[in-house]
Amino acid sequence: MNSPAYNLPGVKNAQSTVNDTPERALSAVGKTDDTGERTVAQVLAGSQVTSILDELDKELVGLLPVKTRMRDIAALLVIDRLRRNLGLASTAPSLHMSFTGNPGTGKTTVAMRMAQILHRLGYVRSGHLVAVTRDDLVGQYIGHTAPKTKEVLKKAMGGVLFIDEAYYLYRPENERDYGQEAIEILLQVMENQRDDLVVILAGYKDRMGTFFQSNPGMNSRIAHHIEFPDYAPTELSEIAGRMLTEQHYSMDTGAHAAFEKYIQLRMQQPHFANARSIRNALERARLRQASRLFSQPDKELSAADLSTLCAEDILASRVFQTPRP
Ligand SMILES: Nc1ncnc2c1ncn2[C@@H]1O[C@H](COP(=O)(O)OP(=O)(O)O)[C@@H](O)[C@H]1O
Ligand SMILES: [Mg+2]
Repeated sequence: MNSPAYNLPGVKNAQSTVNDTPERALSAVGKTDDTGERTVAQVLAGSQVTSILDELDKELVGLLPVKTRMRDIAALLVIDRLRRNLGLASTAPSLHMSFTGNPGTGKTTVAMRMAQILHRLGYVRSGHLVAVTRDDLVGQYIGHTAPKTKEVLKKAMGGVLFIDEAYYLYRPENERDYGQEAIEILLQVMENQRDDLVVILAGYKDRMGTFFQSNPGMNSRIAHHIEFPDYAPTELSEIAGRMLTEQHYSMDTGAHAAFEKYIQLRMQQPHFANARSIRNALERARLRQASRLFSQPDKELSAADLSTLCAEDILASRVFQTPRP
């Protein structure tokens, strides 16, 4: 695409002489980067973004508010593309985002789709996603943090950097915490190289709110705050169905009823993690199914036997053994 050679090492001095401000970078883009597309349909056809959005709709259960925001952002980018084609753009759109919600609500999954959309529309060169946490960015000793953070940024350049539980970067209780150093490097790159790197900060909503309050610089660079709601029991059940279908398994009627009950109970227990808990529960059910079949060594096993989960595969879960509150 329009990317000049990036020399990320030494992020602090990484502003190239050509693109020394986002405005200059873009006006150059406006002149040289006309794809010739003049209608929304042409941009959509050229980028195949519609198919990613449709897939997202189809493959992910629920998440309506998230899907709507994704479409809004895609619309913004398509219009921006058309504006750029006519040399109308003034500033590069800021695309850094925060994804807030409880564990297992689909943040990482949606971030990967977002990376593809950004790539298809030409906002990042390659569309890969690098997922990290504090430990990947922050060193233990003085002088270790900057090289670590820059190494991660180098890997993420041209794609999306996904920082999970981003608030751990900021530890006000520790006066000389190296997290601050990582934050400062990130802030610079988020500003200066925003035409080639999109940063997504993810985590619990309340903690992220506190983080943004204490880090106004970070807050001001995040253009899109997207909230991921918890799934309703019916959605979790549907997610289970899709996961099983993908793996060529299914539940018989008894297993189905048991699993509905399982969901109810599991949701009230500690460390419940939405769709992730469902994925884990199904994995354990498959283990139990395998043991069940394994214990009948002489039985001829049909395709149905091998792919059906029964009530006992679900009911053996610990979740059913805990005393009711
Ligand atoms: N809406 C959904 N429909 C189907 N599967 C989902 C959905 N949301 C999450 N999952 C699945 O649940 C698991 C956890 O999702 P993930 O994106 O890692 O959540 P988070 O990053 O919010 O913790 C993944 O295996 C993902 O495929
Ligand atoms: Mg995640």
